[in-house]
Amino acid sequence: MTFLQNKNIPFFNGSFKMCGMGRLDELGEFTNSSIYNYFGSNWDALDYEETSQFDYLIFNTFIPIIFSMCDIILTYINENKILLLTLPYIFIFLHCLIIVANDIYNNLSLSSFLISLPLIGNRIRKKLKNITCDLENSLNVSNESTYGFIDEIPTISKTTSEVNGIIQSMTHEEQDISKVSGVVYLGDKLHDKKCARIFEKFSCTNPLHPDLFPQIRNMEIDVVSMVSKMFHGDEHTCGNITYGGTESILLACLTYRDYARKEKYINQPNIVAFDSVHPAFDKACHYFNIKLRKINTQKLTDFSVFQYKAVKQLLKPYIDENTICIVASAPNYSYGLIDPILGMSKVAIEYNIGFHVDACMGGFLIPFLPEYKWINFTIPGVTSISVDTHKYGYSFKGSSVLLFKNHSYKQHQHFIQKDWNGGIYATPTMMGSKSGGLIAATWASLLFTGRENYIHYASNIRNNVLFICHFFNQNSILKNTIQIVGEPQLNIIAFTSCTLNIYSVLDEMKKKGWNLSVMQNPSAFHLCITNLHSRENCKIFCQNMIDSVEICSKNKNKKLSGTLALYGSSTQVQNSIFLEEIINNYITLLSKKTISQKYKMV
Ligand SMILES: Cc1ncc(COP(=O)(O)O)c(C=O)c1O
Repeated sequence: MTFLQNKNIPFFNGSFKMCGMGRLDELGEFTNSSIYNYFGSNWDALDYEETSQFDYLIFNTFIPIIFSMCDIILTYINENKILLLTLPYIFIFLHCLIIVANDIYNNLSLSSFLISLPLIGNRIRKKLKNITCDLENSLNVSNESTYGFIDEIPTISKTTSEVNGIIQSMTHEEQDISKVSGVVYLGDKLHDKKCARIFEKFSCTNPLHPDLFPQIRNMEIDVVSMVSKMFHGDEHTCGNITYGGTESILLACLTYRDYARKEKYINQPNIVAFDSVHPAFDKACHYFNIKLRKINTQKLTDFSVFQYKAVKQLLKPYIDENTICIVASAPNYSYGLIDPILGMSKVAIEYNIGFHVDACMGGFLIPFLPEYKWINFTIPGVTSISVDTHKYGYSFKGSSVLLFKNHSYKQHQHFIQKDWNGGIYATPTMMGSKSGGLIAATWASLLFTGRENYIHYASNIRNNVLFICHFFNQNSILKNTIQIVGEPQLNIIAFTSCTLNIYSVLDEMKKKGWNLSVMQNPSAFHLCITNLHSRENCKIFCQNMIDSVEICSKNKNKKLSGTLALYGSSTQVQNSIFLEEIINNYITLLSKKTISQKYKMV
């Protein structure tokens, strides 16, 4: 397999830390962003014309000034031979310089350092305030005219029609969901309604109280058994329903960490995975003090990598006595490609470490496709699998299944507090109380869908992927401009280009109503095919791509400035050393009306 169908595509991994500025070059390589596109598919297209004067101010003016000052002082000392007198000052000055250099290296603290500076601090604050105000406006724009936020619980209760009236005032522009990548996986209103009725029936239950709600326990056992059967688990296979893919992954990492600590006395654990692994693993390692060792996915450039020896060769430098598990994606989110699972499983056996298969994305596709149904617990090294029921399992959001090969691992997933004065507190997952409604809806979704439909949906999705790939390979305009990343054969197709700015193609596609997901390193975007994408719809996609490519080919010289926009907003986010600060503001704004007031001028 080739990772990129056209091997000439340039990869550019600029160092964000060192130069501090992210820029998009003519080829659309977004060189420096440390942000994974994971506000769903929310990064939008880019601002082409405007360049960031602000970045230039800091990096082309401020830092050179420091170095020039340093130069002048040293020359002065040299010329006036006052070395001895000025030695303490030089020492202090150099000390400050080292702090600044250190801050540059850890660009996070550099931003706070710059903000705290007396002269330029106010200017930075003003700029950040403006950017944050823009973010606020763009997030509020959809309901600005009609919706007034509610600050207090109403003294007098509202009626149903009043509440519905308030909901109606939250107007927003409807997106054609048949042009959305991923997100809605089935789009069958009747199915959703039937599951909602089951959810409603059990909405007030709590799996924490099996004596009160034995039905919820029955349903969880059923779901775990059904999913385990899909992956050829045996009587030892065990698992839980979690709140989503991320919780399944967090729990898996925690389990391997605690298993390794107890059974192998490993106190500085690491996990090895390809860098296309989902950021939920970064999150898990961040939370649980595990090192995540990432192998560059671009090394998967050769078919031979799928042979055991080549896989071992690739993984070996990353594995040591502190490695607690390796992780494969089936498929990965970015490109829809499946990691070399067979080879990796042999490596896991050889090194006697855990092997987690992240099938959050493809878990309800691969078991139903003849080409991929071998990915299961019969592969000897596989010790755990995560499968999202809230994606192609067609349940509601907030549902995933984590399976372990046997109890020896799973017992380390459990949290047990024996001494609490409220009694022994023990839970299998991260959550304490939660609604049993989601477990019931998941159970119902599997029953309402049935195996035959899962097979039917999975093969439709795969056939549409193959159709689009074939179309791109045959069409003379697309063949010469757009490259498909790897050889996707499941549900996701990622597109990149070595002749066009792929982000401007994305921008054109957005104008045609498509909500696609943007990738970086290399610059690309993907379409995640769901049941909402009929063959007709796929043809429209291909035609829209031809039209977009033609438009972009005529405007090849447009340069990108290094700004990104958040999807659904017209506001660009400057990719500078303040990116982290701005993203923090954005995340805060998801649950707070305004935050720009925090920037006070001093
Ligand atoms: C491969 C993969 N793993 C994990 C996840 C995380 O799932 P969730 O968003 O349900 O937490 C995703 C989400 O798209 C994914 O594609």
